[in-house]
Amino acid sequence: MSLHRLLGFDVSVPDPDALATWYGALGLEGTPNDGYAGGDGGGRVGLDEGPFRRLVSIHVGADDDRDLEAIARRLADGGAAVERTDEGTVAVVDPATSVRMRVSAAEPERRGPAVPAPEEANRPGTTVRANRRAPGTEAVARAPRRLGHLVLGTPDLAATRSLLVDGLGFKVSDEIDGIISFLRCSTDHHNVALVSSPVPLLQHYSWECDDLDHVGATATSVLRRDPDGHVWGIGRHFAGSNFYWYLRDPSGAFLELYSDLDQITDDEAWERDGRTEFGLDRIANAWGPEIPLEFIEPADLADLQAGWAARA
Ligand SMILES: [Fe+2]
Repeated sequence: MSLHRLLGFDVSVPDPDALATWYGALGLEGTPNDGYAGGDGGGRVGLDEGPFRRLVSIHVGADDDRDLEAIARRLADGGAAVERTDEGTVAVVDPATSVRMRVSAAEPERRGPAVPAPEEANRPGTTVRANRRAPGTEAVARAPRRLGHLVLGTPDLAATRSLLVDGLGFKVSDEIDGIISFLRCSTDHHNVALVSSPVPLLQHYSWECDDLDHVGATATSVLRRDPDGHVWGIGRHFAGSNFYWYLRDPSGAFLELYSDLDQITDDEAWERDGRTEFGLDRIANAWGPEIPLEFIEPADLADLQAGWAARA
């Protein structure tokens, strides 16, 4: 595929120092300007100061300059105002969200050491681990591996979807028409998902962990410092299949720790064997707690609406 990785995104928030400190406690490394990344490096989250929390830009990587030319042509054919930088980056601002979408030629993502498949768990009638505790009982909090995806709330889902899919070349992995679209620019089931929202919004962003024990130990460590930071989990999504646990970061955005996301290495095989229709009964999860109202309508929505109104 021409697009092959999520390079990161930038946000502006009223108190970037508080967010930077929280990221440090989570084990992310970086600086506000260079962005924060997980233990494997990969995608970065850049921080800047602004009057209300806002997703400023999304950055994705394409294979080479020919891909950039093709993307710029498609965007221009669709009527978008395409920006080019001296470094060759193609950029376009999504009119619905004011988010700048940037595409650059980039090397393939270098991943850290592979995580071995888990030892089989004991099941009724099947004992594969006898006379010792499960390794997961020793799990400790540690940095997530890498940035996986973000979810963008948009007042015009169809327009933002068209820009990303028809213009930039994202692929659709799953969707419920008019409600949510899971889009990928790598083998991850989704790197950017779009949801309808009354104002542009970073709804959540997500960091990959090794496994469920890594998710659990790391989330637990955060919540011992900040007991009010729990939002939703633990559960398993239907779309993407991943385990999830959502926390609230100091800016008010939701940070997801996840593991075991669907990987799509063959587009045709996914369409044939993997992708199945689903409805509102599975939009939240396959199992887990009920989706909290806050997840649909964030507590700071009025502040965000005021911020966007003042900006207009
Ligand atoms: Fe997610």
